[in-house]
Amino acid sequence: MPAASIQPTVTLTDEQVAFFRREGYLAIPSITSPEELARLREIYDGLFSSKAGRDDGNQFDLGGTDEEGKEAVLPQILNPRKYAPELEHTLYAANAAAISRQLLGADASARGEHMIYKPARTGAATPWHQDQAYHDPAQDYDNVNVWMPLQDATVENGCMQFVPRSHTWDVLPHHPIGHDPRVHGLEVDEPERYAAQAVACPLPAGGACFHRSYLLHYAGANRSDLPRRAYIMVFGLPSKPARRARHFPWQQRETTRQARLKAKAM
Ligand code: NI
Repeated sequence: MPAASIQPTVTLTDEQVAFFRREGYLAIPSITSPEELARLREIYDGLFSSKAGRDDGNQFDLGGTDEEGKEAVLPQILNPRKYAPELEHTLYAANAAAISRQLLGADASARGEHMIYKPARTGAATPWHQDQAYHDPAQDYDNVNVWMPLQDATVENGCMQFVPRSHTWDVLPHHPIGHDPRVHGLEVDEPERYAAQAVACPLPAGGACFHRSYLLHYAGANRSDLPRRAYIMVFGLPSKPARRARHFPWQQRETTRQARLKAKAM
């Protein structure tokens, strides 16, 4: 069968769509097949072990200072399809696209994808943040992030956690992780204010959760003896100019990743 003909196999109920619109997130037990999951796990591990994308700035440490040769605490690969074109035609992508259109509307389209890896025992927490804090403050993005674990995701190994209904808030003040301007990853200011409201979202391997780009979310450190692999796809409506002028001062800095790319370009 030609890969392009992969048809979605998951349709949300009206109750699930209503839950997402009200709470800002949703979880489902399966978004791919066991066969595809096994194949994706192989591709995923190969991309990280071969350092795919490192030279392009597409593989870097989201949670650490990212110096060359230093063990990453939160390795991330942006745009993994560039390094593994077979990812273009998957049941996961077909289902993620169809579900995103149910959640956001028929105009929703793919905005990119990434992979976040938490090594066994050493994988760091992804601190509380809103994805919108990474985006252009002049634009409003109505995005949904699709998060699929390639093994069971638990509180112990770093499943997603959400603050329900926080997608109705504006962007909160953020800072770089550890207040270190070299670090790419962001954390909301005073995260302890929000942790008490968290709802953890454990999932079976090949399940998925969805969240809006304004929703506060977090994933704990990996305290288990096995790696925690997550494969994330983003879908969104066309962005609109922000309703009011905003300034995101946490974006005014140079990360190690940016400095490395600049040095390379010279
Ligand atoms: Ni995020």
